[in-house]
Amino acid sequence: MYHNIVLIGMMGSGKSSVGHCISQQYGLPFIDTDTLIEAKIQMPIRDFFEKNGEPAFRKEETDCCHALRQYKHNVIATGGGIIVTKTNRDLLKKLGLVIYLHASAEQLLLRLEKDQTRPLLNTPNKHAKIEELLLVRDPIYRETAHIIIDTNNTPEAIASQIWEGYQKPGLKK
Ligand code: S3P
Repeated sequence: MYHNIVLIGMMGSGKSSVGHCISQQYGLPFIDTDTLIEAKIQMPIRDFFEKNGEPAFRKEETDCCHALRQYKHNVIATGGGIIVTKTNRDLLKKLGLVIYLHASAEQLLLRLEKDQTRPLLNTPNKHAKIEELLLVRDPIYRETAHIIIDTNNTPEAIASQIWEGYQKPGLKK
């Protein structure tokens, strides 16, 4: 059996909603890497980016991936950029069944239009930034994931789709 369910995908792809659904429907504890990191750094991620820059945040994500290796049978939602370093991608694959929640740039923009919390979207043209990030990251998410799921469905339906994959004997390590 895979150790955990690991959700990857862009900001606004629904990792938290789907993660909470899996947790509620199937009783797995829910963990969010951004929440763990914020507890460690003792400040909002946006402030940390401003103060220390993106590379320092990526390093926190790597430390977080290492710390997560002690967790078994949890559902883990990750920050959208956790996959940008190869070290993190390799660590994520070892953590469990990796699911890429795919959403189009238009869907993401709809969900993130009013968001003020994501430092990378603190820019005048959010749409262009989302498109740019998606273009670079989509192939990386695909390469990292064991399963790719389109997020057109409800979080409940996506949760049960993921659960089926998690239970499949063919997918056990
Ligand atoms: C980021 C996504 C955010 C958070 C940080 C950077 C990114 O997480 O980790 O703002 O680089 O895409 P969510 O995907 O949970 O919004």
